[in-house]
Amino acid sequence: MRKLFLNIDQLLQVEAADSSKRKVAGSEMSQLPAIENAYLLVEDDKIAAFGKMSDLPDGLETTADLERIDCSGRLLLPTWCDPHTHIVFAATREQEFVMRIQGRSYEEIAASGGGILNSARKLRNTPEEALYAGAYERLMEVVQMGTGAIEIKSGYGLSFDSELKMLRVIRSLKENTPVPIKANFLGAHAIPLSYKAKRGEYIKLLTDELLPAIAKEDLADYIDVFCDEGFFTVEETDELLKAGAKYGLRGKIHANELAVSGGVQVGVANNALSVDHLERTTQAEIDCLRDSDTMPTFLPGTSYFLGIPYGNARKFIDEGLAIALASDYNPGSTPSGNMPFVLSLACTQMKLLPEEAVNACTINSAYAMGVESDLGTIKVGKLANLQLTKAIGGIARLPYSYGSRLIDRVWIKGQEL
Ligand code: NIG
Ligand code: FE
Repeated sequence: MRKLFLNIDQLLQVEAADSSKRKVAGSEMSQLPAIENAYLLVEDDKIAAFGKMSDLPDGLETTADLERIDCSGRLLLPTWCDPHTHIVFAATREQEFVMRIQGRSYEEIAASGGGILNSARKLRNTPEEALYAGAYERLMEVVQMGTGAIEIKSGYGLSFDSELKMLRVIRSLKENTPVPIKANFLGAHAIPLSYKAKRGEYIKLLTDELLPAIAKEDLADYIDVFCDEGFFTVEETDELLKAGAKYGLRGKIHANELAVSGGVQVGVANNALSVDHLERTTQAEIDCLRDSDTMPTFLPGTSYFLGIPYGNARKFIDEGLAIALASDYNPGSTPSGNMPFVLSLACTQMKLLPEEAVNACTINSAYAMGVESDLGTIKVGKLANLQLTKAIGGIARLPYSYGSRLIDRVWIKGQEL
């Protein structure tokens, strides 16, 4: 089946067929290559051609078996890639939200058995089917806001059986939906209370029992560790990343959310694909990331919801680095997967230009989840994961009109969802 998008006011984030761009960095991030008054042809699940309306091949518009989509006044762009989420969970945690309003901190709540451990207790008693239903609903919710690829973590299991249960839910989402999904094993999300006095044994459970079981069923693409004050140390993170590498799992880790934790350095030393959060960084983290293959990934929704500092993404870009953005959709620190809101926070709170924010949510976030050869730009041969805005005049309207629903239609692999 073919689809022809016609009269596109602006076709954004276009890439030439012979380019092999994997990410954009520094001042290049403020450029968003575009074609005005454009067409785009989709064949089956892929982008087949695009260009100016004046260059539309003769006769194409009138061929049989072609769906025509008039895009007058609207912008067409690649869907967002959301490279950091925790959308498999059993229950929301609004009681902790109210406790924080009353003055208790995220760290205090976590240290007293709330937080991640609270989610783990609830997940343990929830059947796989119910977890699937909840995660499926969240996935479809974010697709309607323009997300067309997503990374999903385990990490609310924290036991042999429950971690595998979460990863099997993610595998079912991969099998039963057209959305490109990457699974990230986050057994090292918190130390369960029963292992508090024997941390080493919990780490052994992850490295010696869970990793082989996960590899046997091919349940994960990446390995994650919450490398931060009160959670996992740099040494533990190093051990876990090295253990994951033995099974072909590259790191995508949580670092520098609660403290300048050394997480960035240990991530880069282990060639992690991304280091995420980065609410607290110094010049040392910037210097360490420069010239590495690791993508710094910022999660402004977490800063908004927890009331913690925003990461200094502006400085990273000014220093010539590439950065990505993600939602961090989870029941504790960020109960939202709304990527247009993430773009808006990046602009208003981190002082990114709208074009920089779009690059951070498309090509660079595709890189941060290892799907940049198929997604992240409008390029012939890439997947037809596309979002069409309402008539908004230009891309700045998207982060400007925060809270308005400006994404009108979404296609995943050429199919409208
Ligand atoms: O990315 N920071 C660690 N993990 C999650 C939050 C987990 C939770 O509170 O449930 C995050 O913010
Ligand atoms: Fe997270």
